[in-house]
This record gives sequence, C-alpha cells and structure tokens, in this order.
Amino acid sequence: MEEVNVGIIGLGNVGYATLNILSENADQIAQKLGFRLNVTAVCSRGVASLHIPEKLGNVLRTADWREVVAHPDVQIVAELVGGTDVAANIIDSAIEHRKSVVTANKAIMAACGSEIWDRAIRSGINLAMEASVCGGIPIHAVLREGISGDRVTALYGILNGTCNYILTEMEKRGVPLAYLVAESQRLGYAEADPSADIDGFDARSKLVLLAALAFGERITPSDIFVEGIRRITPLDFDYARQLKHTIRLVCGARQTSEGLILFVRPALIPSSTILASVQGPYNAVWVKGQFGEDTFYYGWGAGHPTGVSVVSDLMRVAREIRSGSPERVSPFAHERLGEYRPVSVNRQKRAYYLRFRVEDRPGIIATLAGILAAKHISLEAVLQEPCSTKHDLPFVITVEETSEQSIREAVDEMCQLEFMREAPLALPMETAL
Ligand SMILES: NC(=O)c1ccc[n+]([C@@H]2O[C@H](COP(=O)([O-])OP(=O)(O)OC[C@H]3O[C@@H](n4cnc5c(N)ncnc54)[C@H](OP(=O)(O)O)[C@@H]3O)[C@@H](O)[C@H]2O)c1
Repeated sequence: MEEVNVGIIGLGNVGYATLNILSENADQIAQKLGFRLNVTAVCSRGVASLHIPEKLGNVLRTADWREVVAHPDVQIVAELVGGTDVAANIIDSAIEHRKSVVTANKAIMAACGSEIWDRAIRSGINLAMEASVCGGIPIHAVLREGISGDRVTALYGILNGTCNYILTEMEKRGVPLAYLVAESQRLGYAEADPSADIDGFDARSKLVLLAALAFGERITPSDIFVEGIRRITPLDFDYARQLKHTIRLVCGARQTSEGLILFVRPALIPSSTILASVQGPYNAVWVKGQFGEDTFYYGWGAGHPTGVSVVSDLMRVAREIRSGSPERVSPFAHERLGEYRPVSVNRQKRAYYLRFRVEDRPGIIATLAGILAAKHISLEAVLQEPCSTKHDLPFVITVEETSEQSIREAVDEMCQLEFMREAPLALPMETAL
C-alpha cells in the first residue's frame, strides 16, 4: 500500500526522539497502519551536524523549514520547534499549503488554538496536538474520545514535571528551592531560565488546553489565576505534614454554580489523595465526571514519551489522510454552547493555610485573630515549630472555609503590621480531590 510522507521541523528533545521512534519502530507502525509512515524531510538550522538514522533511507535535510512545508511529497508537517514566532509561521504556512499538522506546541495552541483549528478545518486538513500537554499521557484522546460521553465537573492536574520534582525533593530532603532549581537544571529538567516552570506559566498554557477540551469553553491564559512555587520552603512541608497534607503545584478547573474556576497555584492537598503520591518529574491528571466519577492518568512528560505522542498523532492523521475524515470537529467546538463561563478565583471557597514570619512580641496572635474575625474568617489551628530566633519567627494559622476574596483582604491588611517580616503566605487547602 502507498506510504504517507512526513516532514519533521525541529530536531531537539522531542523532534529527535520522534525521528528515533519512527526509525526504530517503523515495522510495527506499518503493521498497525497497514502502510508505511515515511520520513521525507527533516529540518533544523544545525541539521548538518546531526546523525539521521540510516534506516530512514533517503531523507531531505534542510536548515530552511519552508523547503519542508513546500515539498510536494510531504503530506504531514510535524512542528517541533517550540516558541511562538517561527513555529506560528510554520503552522500557518502548512495550513496554506493544505498540509496536515502535528504539533507539540502548548504555547501557540494555548494562545490561539481555537483560531488555528478553525483555519485548519476550513482548509480541510488535520491538526493534532496530543504532545502539547503532559508529554506521554494521551490526555487529549481521553478527553476528546475516551470519556467524551461524560460531563466533566472538575479536572485537577500536576502539569509541570520540573515543579513537581522540586517540591517532592524539598519534601524528602528538606533542601531549599534555589538548590533544587540548580539541580533540576543539571538534570535537564529545567531550562537555563526556569521562570516559565517555577512561576507557573508553562502549567498555565497546559491548563488552557485541558480546560478547553474538558469543558468545551474558550479559555485564555488571562482566565487562569497563576502563582508559582518561589515562596515554598522546607518549613512549609514540615507544617503541611503536621496537618497530614503535602504541597503540590496544582492546576485546577472546577465547575461551580457561578462559573468555571481556573487556577495554577501551590496548594495543600491531603497526603492520602492520589495526586499527593505523584513524585518527581511525573505528570498526572485527575478528572471527575458527572456520570463516570473519577478517572486518573499518570505518566512521564519528557522527550521520548512526548515523541510517542507525536508518532501516535502522525499515525492518526495518516490514517485519516488515507481513509478520509468525515467529521473534523475542533476540540474547542462546543465553546459555542457557552455553558462554562470562567469566573474569578476570588469566588473560590476553601480552608486556608497562612504561614507567617514575624519579629516576635506579645499579642501577635491576638492581632492576627482580630483581623480574621473582622472578615468573618474562623481560625482553626495555630502551629509553631521550635525556633531559636525571636527576630524571624515562623508559625502557621489554618482557617476554616472562607472565600479567596476575604483571605486576600485579610492578608493585605496583615502586610501593614510592623512586626511582619514578609507578606503572609496563603495557600488553599484543596479537598475536592
Ligand atoms: N522537551 C519536552 O520534554 C517537551 C514535552 C512536551 C512538549 N514539548 C514541546 O515540544 C516542542 C519542542 O521542544 P523541545 O524540548 O524538543 O525543544 P528543543 O530541544 O529546543 O528543540 C527545538 C528544535 O528546533 C530547532 N529550531 C529552532 N529554531 C528553528 C528554526 N528557525 N528553523 C528550524 N529549526 C529550528 C532547533 O535546532 P536548531 O537550533 O539547530 O535550529 C531544535 O532542533 C516545544 O513546543 C515544547 O513546548 C517539549
């Protein structure tokens, strides 16, 4: 049977892994498809110095992505360059040339995925983006097909492996964030500039896509409250442990009577929950459905697992090219129903963990309790680890369920107190897991 031809642009972690899998697994892939997936062209600016597996046969190598997109034999373009500039041009140009597109690019798809999908559908081509969220976990397929008959009410995820590595190592070894950021850079988990990971922006792009798929709503990055993990210390894990909780960068999307609440933030989660057991650079997604109840998906988010997702997308798109795809439905299609309107995280109601660092003196707890009481916030517990210095005394107050709005107002007022050494750290205590 005639083969389907692929062009791969970007040969870094994901692109090269994809190439390797297409070469090493070629016979199995052909057996599963009933025809071969042929790599016709590959591109990166430094392609001349790269080893291209001989098994792939005669492959055009070029440093100019336009040659791949315009190549008359290439039917599917895999955009694995990353970033938003060149990658956007590659995707646009591929759609103009009526070539199907497979991408791992969460940044572009989060910013304008809906428009790209509409253009792709109008051009009659296929677009697949499984690899853009959670690397090796086939979560797009789950939400678009596997549980599409259900009505999702909540989705919680650990979507950034670097942050999860840093937090779980801090929990185990009691070492500070700066040390663990440097360690994750050495291990290749974090970029030279770790901000996208530790400030939560990478996870936010992923949540945009997952929430759009799960709730069929047009979600933009600005709909999602984001707070990174920079302020988390080993001491917070000591206190969390006393409360039978742990701390994770939690990405949440939850339907409420007022609308959809979306956030990426460090949160306390009960140690007994399945998300709490996700360790190291792993990703996980927990979905609650109105009819199907809980399902949980777990996996690795790095180069080769992501390559598997890219190859699986290439196979799916190739199948559709060969057999025709009668219904190309955008994953953002039911946005038009407008059922799930994103609302401010301020409407969220939770118990909260408040961690303070103060210059010790009599009457501190009474002052803080007074501010909380004035906002109708009920104090639950006060925790204090032994500490030798009175100049920088840490302690924790937990409060009963209240609104994010009330907690923010209380924290703003507490920031003005002259014994406060830094702004109190307020973390929600998630229960709906
Ligand atoms: N790494 C992961 O674990 C992972 C997981 C899930 C999703 N993703 C996504 O996968 C995509 C790729 O990530 P990656 O980690 O593989 O990135 P990467 O290692 O930095 O690779 C990028 C590749 O693109 C090439 N490139 C850059 N600019 C180019 C240009 N103008 N023309 C042609 N080639 C160009 C680079 O090679 P030259 O410099 O030689 O051109 C390199 O081969 C991103 O969208 C990322 O978000 C990555």
